[in-house]
Amino acid sequence: MKIADAIRNRHSCRAFLARGVEADKIERILRLAAHAPSGGNLQPWRVAVVSGRTKQEIAEEMVAHFRAGVRAEPDYRYYPEHWTEPYKSRRFACGMQLYSALGIEREDKARRREQWLDNYHAFGAPVVLYLYMESHLAAGAYVDLGIFLQSLLLAALEEGLATCPQQALAEYPRIVKHRLGIGDDTVLLCGVALGYEDTSAPVNRYRTPRAELDEFVRYFS
Ligand SMILES: Cc1cc2nc3c(=O)[nH]c(=O)nc-3n(C[C@H](O)[C@H](O)[C@H](O)COP(=O)(O)O)c2cc1C
Repeated sequence: MKIADAIRNRHSCRAFLARGVEADKIERILRLAAHAPSGGNLQPWRVAVVSGRTKQEIAEEMVAHFRAGVRAEPDYRYYPEHWTEPYKSRRFACGMQLYSALGIEREDKARRREQWLDNYHAFGAPVVLYLYMESHLAAGAYVDLGIFLQSLLLAALEEGLATCPQQALAEYPRIVKHRLGIGDDTVLLCGVALGYEDTSAPVNRYRTPRAELDEFVRYFS
């Protein structure tokens, strides 16, 4: 697969087939993603590969927490506290695309909530890759993990697999760390849903737009 095709064709998949993912494919994806650059070659990324009963139990605990109204306590703030333009509008449009693909009306809070809960099940993906790092590392490590994440998403594509990076899977880090025996001296970045795409699902059919170059590039000479 051409690099340009991989970058263009990657998209967030939110409906997966029940089919499991072969262990050798996961290993190849991780080996390839580990070629990502990092400052000083620190390679600060850590990955927990979770499937089967463990994945199910973590999902159930997260759903139970959410339903009980337990406040999410992520290890880091992903979104700004105060929304400004153009980010506010972009995020709104992103949500609208998703709900429209699923046939959910904007006012239908109950169905929006159910859609949100689907996040905790990684949208039915058989595997979740949890990305984390040691918490004493500095902001540069977040950059490095971001590069690793994109490498991972593209490497999955090469293996015929679909992904969805999910901040939602890092909302209750204590649940994940406790179940997996990961120390508290870590930052849980996100989870990545991994599996075979259900191409017949309407939720997988839309594609998100991108801003024109003049919105984010300036030339100097
Ligand atoms: C770090 C990260 C966290 C994300 N978290 C979620 C999430 O919790 N739930 C979700 O449905 N999508 C999540 N997304 C997917 C974004 O909504 C998606 O990347 C964006 O809308 C662009 O669409 P595309 O990935 O299909 O190109 C996340 C993406 C990234 C990079």
